[in-house]
Amino acid sequence: MSVVSLRVNGKTHEVDIDPTTPLLYVLRNDLGLQGPRFGCGLGQCGSCTVIVDGVATRSCITPASRAGGEITTLEGLAKDGQLDPLQQAWIDEQVPQCGYCQNGQILTARALLDRNPNPTDAEIREGMEGVLCRCMTYFRIQAAIKRAAREAGE
Ligand code: FES
Ligand code: FES
Repeated sequence: MSVVSLRVNGKTHEVDIDPTTPLLYVLRNDLGLQGPRFGCGLGQCGSCTVIVDGVATRSCITPASRAGGEITTLEGLAKDGQLDPLQQAWIDEQVPQCGYCQNGQILTARALLDRNPNPTDAEIREGMEGVLCRCMTYFRIQAAIKRAAREAGE
C-alpha cells in the first residue's frame, strides 16, 4: 500500500491504496464518485471514462497511481449549480435510454468539444468512436453534441 494523491474535480485527495488499483475503483469506492461506471473492465466499452488533463481516459485500465493530472468526473461538470451545456443538451435531446453508458458518452463528448468546439458529423463520429451504447442512442448523442456546440457558439 502507498499513499497516492489525486486531484479530482478541483479537490486534492490522499488515498492509501495498492498503486496498481484501477482509477475507477478508487473514484467509486474510496471517493464515492458513482458517475464513472464499470462496464467491461477491459478498456473496450468506455462507460468508465473520466477526463484526465483534457483527455478522455478509460479509468478501468488506468492505475490510480498514474493518474497524476487534473481529473474530471461527471460530478465535476456542473459549475456553481449550472449544468454543463452538454448536460443540458442531453436533457433537451432526451438522449439516455437505460443510461448505463451515458457517463462515458458525456465525458468523451466534453473532451471532444474542448479540443474542437464545432465538430462536423464525421468528427463527432470519429471522436465518439468506441464508446458503446447497447441501447443505440447514437443519433441522439450526435444531436446533443451538435446542439451544445451550436448553443455555445451563439
Ligand atoms: S469499463 Fe472501462 S472501458 Fe469498459
Ligand atoms: S443508454 Fe443504455 S447502454 Fe447506452
